[in-house]
Amino acid sequence: MSRLPVVVFLSALLLLCEGNPCCSVPCQNRGVCTAFGPQNYECDCTRTGYHGHNCTTPEFLTWVKISLKPTPNTVHYLLTHFKGFWSIISSISFLRDAIMTYVLTSRSHLIDSPPTFNADYGYKSWEAYSNLSYYTRTLPPVPEDCPTPMGAVGHKELPDAKLLAQKLLLRREFIPDPQGSSLMFAFFAQHFTHQFFKSDMKRGPAFTLAQGHGVDLNHVYGDNLERQHKLRLRKDGKLKYQILDGEVYPPTVKEVGVDMHYPPHVPDAHRFAVGHEAFGLVPGLMMYATLWLREHNRVSGVLQDVHPDWDDERLFQTSRLILIGETIKIVIEDYVQHLSGYHFKLKFDPELLFNQRFQYQNRIASEFNTLYHWHPLMPDSFRIQRRDYGYKQFVFNTSIVAEHGIGRLVESFSNQIAGQVAGGRNVPRPIMHVAVKSIENSRRMRYQSLNAYRKRFSMKPYSSFQDLTGEKEMSAVLEEFYGHVDAVELYPGLLVEKPRPNAIFGETMVEMGAPYSLKGLMGNPICSPEYWRPSTFGGAAGFAIVNGASLQRLVCDNVRGPCPVASFSVPDEKDSGSVINSGASHSGDSDLNPTVVLKERAAEL
Ligand code: HEM
Ligand SMILES: *[C@@H]1O[C@H](CO)[C@@H](O)[C@H](O)[C@H]1NC(C)=O
Ligand SMILES: *[C@@H]1O[C@H](CO)[C@@H](O)[C@H](O)[C@H]1NC(C)=O
Ligand SMILES: *[C@@H]1O[C@H](CO)[C@@H](O)[C@H](O)[C@H]1NC(C)=O
Repeated sequence: MSRLPVVVFLSALLLLCEGNPCCSVPCQNRGVCTAFGPQNYECDCTRTGYHGHNCTTPEFLTWVKISLKPTPNTVHYLLTHFKGFWSIISSISFLRDAIMTYVLTSRSHLIDSPPTFNADYGYKSWEAYSNLSYYTRTLPPVPEDCPTPMGAVGHKELPDAKLLAQKLLLRREFIPDPQGSSLMFAFFAQHFTHQFFKSDMKRGPAFTLAQGHGVDLNHVYGDNLERQHKLRLRKDGKLKYQILDGEVYPPTVKEVGVDMHYPPHVPDAHRFAVGHEAFGLVPGLMMYATLWLREHNRVSGVLQDVHPDWDDERLFQTSRLILIGETIKIVIEDYVQHLSGYHFKLKFDPELLFNQRFQYQNRIASEFNTLYHWHPLMPDSFRIQRRDYGYKQFVFNTSIVAEHGIGRLVESFSNQIAGQVAGGRNVPRPIMHVAVKSIENSRRMRYQSLNAYRKRFSMKPYSSFQDLTGEKEMSAVLEEFYGHVDAVELYPGLLVEKPRPNAIFGETMVEMGAPYSLKGLMGNPICSPEYWRPSTFGGAAGFAIVNGASLQRLVCDNVRGPCPVASFSVPDEKDSGSVINSGASHSGDSDLNPTVVLKERAAEL
């Protein structure tokens, strides 16, 4: 009896030292940890393929699977080598289909659908499921009562975010992307993703204003009905526009009366109004906004020719679905194709999933937003038609758009190389504050560690700092900052990770990013069996626009005069011709030859 106080004291001490037993993430292989008091926990291993106290013992079938499964790096190596082999495989349609189906299902199975957690709910709840104002979370937040910020390992305090960014993320000298990504690629990334990464900073980084949670083109049409109506011409299904120098541009804020974020010095004449409030930020965004505006009005014209009896509403709505389809086609066959570096030819074909278990729904994860902060892509300055713009002259300078014209911007951006994202120390100083913010926000949202995410996405956790960076200098800095490799945070980890050989990213960025990306693209309702048919897109003509979409075509169909080469990779001197193609072509080389493109287009009409 007299020992009771001692026991109570000891448990209290344990509580202080260890807190919640789930802090140490004891449950492996996606088992779910539930704490019972300060010392006991249970792992729920249901359907993980494992059992045992910590879900570590594989069932027989699981054991067979993991013994046979090649590592992600091996698969990546195979897909990015043996060009001749893949070109043969890609030309045999049943093989291409089988491999593409495997790519889609194996990736999207890593995403919980329906979604589970959010920043305020680390356990399943109706609130977390149903409240669309939140980004979802792939891993629950680190519990509040843990001994260290990252759970149970590492220092009691995380390194100062500014210092961390300065030592590990800040660019010393521009490091070009070895995959040859162009600024055309970088601005596409920014433009495309801002339709679903649209944090509600009034509520905090855990909340989003883009409640469509996917590719709904709210960045073209506005994220609410009122804004959409203001942007629409209300005639022939078209969007409002203005003519400058004989070409179509977005209308002005003054004319349409929608809110846009511009600093005071921007004159009224240069305040373009588009779907996304922030797209005045850089001319690269406004270039894409203009291209899609022109495309919308072009497509509604095509539809009107086929359906002279359709009213404004139907022409508008059907055009929007076509543009959503075009976007997904371009993202998979041009953008992801380029990014992956695969010699296997990716294919956008929703029918591949019709015989698979697949949910046509999507919820954007906060971690996806964080990992997509690819600010190292940005160069030191922007070269347009032999003029060089620094950040001060480039940011919020929309006069650049009409002054150079869309064709010239496309040409310039397709020829300038972007920066490498992984490998550390490549964030340009003028936008370093965004990287710092991203670290601070990740902490507010209590992200788990880089290694926790590696395990979640079927990768081996890094065993040491050098294992992570592949070098000595930055790994020493990391060691000092974090103490233990299991305490390295997600975002800094992604940016200092050793890049794969000759690649823009390290392993983690790709193995995490690809599942989110493909799930978001294929989970779109237009990819479901009921939608994916010509009538949804106004008939054969509309369906053909979706299935024939490419970056090159988007440009050629919407700039006046000779059409510039539009490419996600810069031309390579060593091997001119073929490498240019890797980004933009998928339907044969003719795609890239402007004259041929124009002829094809003429033939189509
Ligand atoms: C000069 C070019 C750029 C500038 C000036 C810029 C600036 C910014 C700023 C100020 C923010 C908001 C930061 C915050 O308050 O949390 C932001 C967010 C973001 N940026 Fe950039 N950025 C640029 C290029 C890019 C590029 C090329 C990408 C490529 C994908 C990108 C991806 C993102 C993402 C995903 C977010 C988070 C958006 C959100 O959560 O709402 N940015 N950027
Ligand atoms: C489960 O994990 C904990 C902590 O991670 C460890 O101490 C314990 O020995 C493990 N138990 C079994 C049965 O593997
Ligand atoms: C979603 O959650 C936030 C934060 O708790 C709350 O303010 C908001 O009202 C919720 N939205 C809905 C539609 O319930
Ligand atoms: C904006 O761009 C124009 C060229 O279109 C240039 O003449 C001007 O100096 C730039 N504005 C600023 C504020 O740098």
